[in-house]
Amino acid sequence: MARIEIDGQSYDVPDGSNLLSACLALGLDLPYFCWHPALGSAGACRQCAVIQYKDAEDRRGKLVMACMTPVADGVRVSLNAEYAQKFRSDNIELLMTNHPHDCPVCEEGGECHLQDMTVMTGHTSRRYRGLKRTHNNQDLGPFINHEMNRCIACYRCVRFYDEYAGGKDLQVLGMHNNVYFGRFEDGALENEFSGNLVEVCPTGVFTDKTFSAHYVRKWDLQSAPSVCVHCGLGCNTAPGERYGELRRIINRYNSEINGYFLCDRGRFGYGFVNSHERIRKPQLKDYPDISADAAESYFRKLLKGSNPAIGIGSPRASLEANFALRMLVGEENFFLGLDDTEHTLLNAIAEMMLDGGIHSPSLREVEQADAVLILGEDVTHSAPRLALSLRQAARQASFELAGSLHVLPWQDAAVRNLEQQALTPVYIASICATRLDDIATNTYRGSPEDIARLGFAIAHHLDQSAPAPAALGDAEQALAASIADGLKQAKRPLIVSGTGCASLAVIQAAYNVAKALPSVNKQLTFTVPECNSLGLAIIGGLPLAQAFERIGNGLADSMIILENDLYRRAPGRNVDLFLQLANHIVAIDSLENKTTAHAELVLPASTFAESEGTLVNNEGRAQRYFPVYPVEEPVRGSWQWLTCVMGSAVDVSSEKPSPEGEGWVRGNQNKEESLFRSPHPSLIMPDSPVRHPAGECKSAPGGFVPEGEGADTPQSTPSNSIDNSQWQHHDALTAACASAFPDLAGITQAAPGADYTVKGSKIPRQPHRYSGRTAMHANINVSEPSQPHDDETPFAFTMEGNTEQVPPALLPVIWAPGWNSNQAINKFQQEIGGSLRGEDTGVRLIEAAGTLPWFCDIPPEFIPVPGRWRIMPLPHIFGSEELSLHSPALLERLPPFCVLLNPLDAEKLGIDSGDLVEISSLAGVAILNVPVQIENTFPSGLLGITAGLPVFQAMKSWAEVSLKKVNREGRL
Ligand code: SF4
Ligand code: SF4
Ligand code: FES
Repeated sequence: MARIEIDGQSYDVPDGSNLLSACLALGLDLPYFCWHPALGSAGACRQCAVIQYKDAEDRRGKLVMACMTPVADGVRVSLNAEYAQKFRSDNIELLMTNHPHDCPVCEEGGECHLQDMTVMTGHTSRRYRGLKRTHNNQDLGPFINHEMNRCIACYRCVRFYDEYAGGKDLQVLGMHNNVYFGRFEDGALENEFSGNLVEVCPTGVFTDKTFSAHYVRKWDLQSAPSVCVHCGLGCNTAPGERYGELRRIINRYNSEINGYFLCDRGRFGYGFVNSHERIRKPQLKDYPDISADAAESYFRKLLKGSNPAIGIGSPRASLEANFALRMLVGEENFFLGLDDTEHTLLNAIAEMMLDGGIHSPSLREVEQADAVLILGEDVTHSAPRLALSLRQAARQASFELAGSLHVLPWQDAAVRNLEQQALTPVYIASICATRLDDIATNTYRGSPEDIARLGFAIAHHLDQSAPAPAALGDAEQALAASIADGLKQAKRPLIVSGTGCASLAVIQAAYNVAKALPSVNKQLTFTVPECNSLGLAIIGGLPLAQAFERIGNGLADSMIILENDLYRRAPGRNVDLFLQLANHIVAIDSLENKTTAHAELVLPASTFAESEGTLVNNEGRAQRYFPVYPVEEPVRGSWQWLTCVMGSAVDVSSEKPSPEGEGWVRGNQNKEESLFRSPHPSLIMPDSPVRHPAGECKSAPGGFVPEGEGADTPQSTPSNSIDNSQWQHHDALTAACASAFPDLAGITQAAPGADYTVKGSKIPRQPHRYSGRTAMHANINVSEPSQPHDDETPFAFTMEGNTEQVPPALLPVIWAPGWNSNQAINKFQQEIGGSLRGEDTGVRLIEAAGTLPWFCDIPPEFIPVPGRWRIMPLPHIFGSEELSLHSPALLERLPPFCVLLNPLDAEKLGIDSGDLVEISSLAGVAILNVPVQIENTFPSGLLGITAGLPVFQAMKSWAEVSLKKVNREGRL
C-alpha cells in the first residue's frame, strides 16, 4: 500500500494503481471519460485533471491527469483546487461544443456518463453559440444504433472494439475536430462483442437497437439479478422489463466471469421471451383453452398410469426443475434428454472436473494464463465470452515484460507497444479457421481424430508415461514437441477443450495434456453447450436412447418432457416414432417447438426472466437467477408445475387405473366430459396477475419448510408414491436437491433465500424513480393496484425498500447518488475492477481433487473414404443455440445457408464456391440445392454444417453423406 494525501487527508491506496482509480476506490468523485477499468488509461479526454504538489512546501503544484499518474508513497494531490475544478469544467464545456444536447430524445438519457460528469463538474450553462459539427450516421446492423453527433472523442469505442475485442471493422476516421468513429461503409458490425459499445461509450453514440424498438427510460425498468441462458459460461446479466415485456439485457458485473462485457448472443438473444411463439396457456389436444387448474388435474390423473411415467430432463432447465422431474418419476425413469454423443461427452467432462484433479478456472483466471492450448474448439462460437478472455490471456506476456520494465499494467499504450515484443503462446488445433487465429502462435487444422492425436502426442512429449499415438507424421510430431515445449515453460498453462467438435477422444486428449503438465498452477477448462449442461450431468440420468427403448418396449406409456425439443436431440424419424408410441406426452416448455406440437398436454413454462432457478456453469459455479417480473397465470415455472402434482401422493401399487377407463386417453378419442366440458368452472381463466405460488396448489397445501428440513434422500423415494408437499417453495426444493447430491451441496449458498430482508423489507426490483405505477394500469383501474407478492425470492415487485448493503447476488440495479450510468459499479467494488463488496455472485462447487488414469483410447488417423463425406456440425454464435434462434435481431445475423468443403474435394466434384449440391444420406434421403462454401483449411473428407440450424436438423444423424453437384436450376 502507498500513503498519499488528497486535499489534506491521508489515505492508504494500493501501490501501483493510478490516481483516478485510487480516488474512485476511496469513494471520491472525480470525472473521467477515456479511462476504463478493463481498458486502462489513455489520457485522451483530459477530464480527470487534478493538481499534484511536489511536497508540503509546494503551494502552486502542476496540473496532471489522474488516470496517467501512478500513486506512490508521499504523492500529494488536490481534487478540489480551484484551478483543477475550473480546468475540468472548461474541458467538458469544450467537449460539449459539438454535442447536440439532445438528452430528451437520446436513449442514453438517464443513464449517461456524460450527463453525470457534466453535472459533477458544475458545467451548467452553455455559452457556445456557433455552428456545430455534424456527421452522417451509419446503419450498423440489427444490434446497434449510431448517432455520431453525440461523440466526445474519448476513443473508448475503438480501444474496446479493435484492441480489446479484436474487431477489424470499426475505426477512427477523419482528423482534428472532425474525427469519426464508425465503419468505412454502412454494414453490420462484425465483431461478436459489438454490443458492449452500448455500455463502453460514455454518451449516446452507440445505443441498443433492440431496446429502441420498445424503449423506456432506465428508471422505469424493473429488474432482478439474472444469468445468461445462451451458453454454458453463465455470464451475469441484468434484464429490464416494463409492461410485462422484456426490454433489454445489460451486463451485470461479476469479476470472476463476465467482468464488464457480454457477447452479442447473450445481450441481444432475449427476444424469445417476448416471442409470439411463447406458450401462454395450457394446451390439451382438442381443448385449446383450459385453465391452469384443469391442466394440473389432468396432469395429475395422467401420472396414475399403470406403467410409471418417464421424465426427460433438459440442460436448459434449472437444477431445481430437473431435480423435481427426477423426483416425480423416480431416478430409474429419469433421462437426461441429450443426444447420445453429448450425453457421453458431458459425462466425461463431469468426471474429469469432479475427479480429475485439475483446476477449472474462472474467466478471470483464464485471462491470466501464460500459455494456452485450444484443442478442437472454435471458442468464439461455442463459448463466446471465453474467447474474449483468451484474447486478454494472449497479452499476459506483454504485461509480464511491462512489469520487468517498471511499466504499470494500466499504461495501455505502453503495454500495447510491448505486445510487439512479447505475446503469450496460444496454440489452436481446430477443424476450421477460428476467430482467434489472429492471436495464435501456431494453428493446426484437422479432423477430430487428427486433433485428438495431436493432443495425445503433446501429452506424450510432456510426460513419457502418457500414451503416444502410433504413426504420427513428422510435421505433427514436430508441432506437438514445440507446443509441449511452450506449455512446459508456462507458470499458468491453460488447456481449453469442449463439446464443440463432438469427439470424446479430443476431450480425453485435452485431459491427458493437462495431466501431463508439470506446473502446479495448470488449468483445464471445457466448453459445454447449454446453460445448465454441467448441472444436468452432475444430477445424472439415463441416455435418451434408453427412453426410446423403454417406450418402444411398452415398459412406459407416459412421458414428461421438460423444456426440451427432442427433435434437436435425435434423428427426426426416431423422435417421430418415439412420440407416436407413447400414450401420453406432457411437455413443459416456454416456446412452441416440434416436440410440443406432438404433446397431448402442453404446460406453459416461464422463462429465465419470469422464474427462479440455479444453474451450474462450465467452471462448476452455481448461480441463482430471479424472476424480473411476474407472469400471469396460467404460465408457471417448470418446477412449480412439477411440484404441484407431486403433492397428490398417488400410490400406484394400490391404485392402477386404466387410462381408457378414466376417459383421459389422448386426443379426441375419448374425452373427459366432466372435466373439460365448457363452461366448467375450472376452465375459467384467472384474471389476477399474480405469480402462482406453488404453495397454493389445490391438492397440495403446504407451508414453507426451512432449508434442510424435510429434504428426504430422493433416490430412496419410490416414484409416484411420494408426498413432496414440503417442496412447495423453491428454497426447500433447492435444499432438497443440495442434500440429494453431494456434488451440489453448495447450491444453497449461491444466493440468500426468500427470507432474506434488508432492515425488515424485501429488496425492490423497481428503482426509486420508477414512474407511472398507477397510470400504467389506468385503463383497468385508476387506483394503484397492490403489487404481486413474491414468496419465492428475497425480492418485491415494488420500488419501496432498500438496496443498500445487499449482497452482490441480490443487486437488482446498479446506482449511486450522482452515478446513473453503469459506471456506478465503481461504488460497489472492493477495488476498482476487482471483486464486488461481499464477493461476486455464485459458489464454486468443484475444486480440483483426485486424479484419473491416462486415457489410452487413441483413434487412428482419419482417412476420407472416396465419394463419402462425414457431416461435421460446427457451432455458430448466431444460429446454434435454441432459444436465441427465436430472437428477431439474431435472426438477421444467421450464418449463410451453406456447407463447407475442402478445395480438393470441391475440385474433384467440379464445384466452385456458391455452387449447389445435393446431399444424400447412405439411406438415400436427400437434401437438395445446398450452396457450397469452399474453405481453404477445412479438412478433406468432412462436410461442415452449422450446428443447430433447423434446416440441418434432418442431417443430425447422418454420419456420412454423398454429394452431387446440381445446376443453378437445382437439376443434377
Ligand atoms: S463514439 Fe462514444 S466511445 Fe467512441 S469516441 Fe465517441 S464518445 Fe467515445
Ligand atoms: S458468452 Fe455465453 S453466457 Fe456469456 S453472454 Fe454470451 S451467450 Fe451468454
Ligand atoms: S480519464 Fe483521464 S484523461 Fe481521460
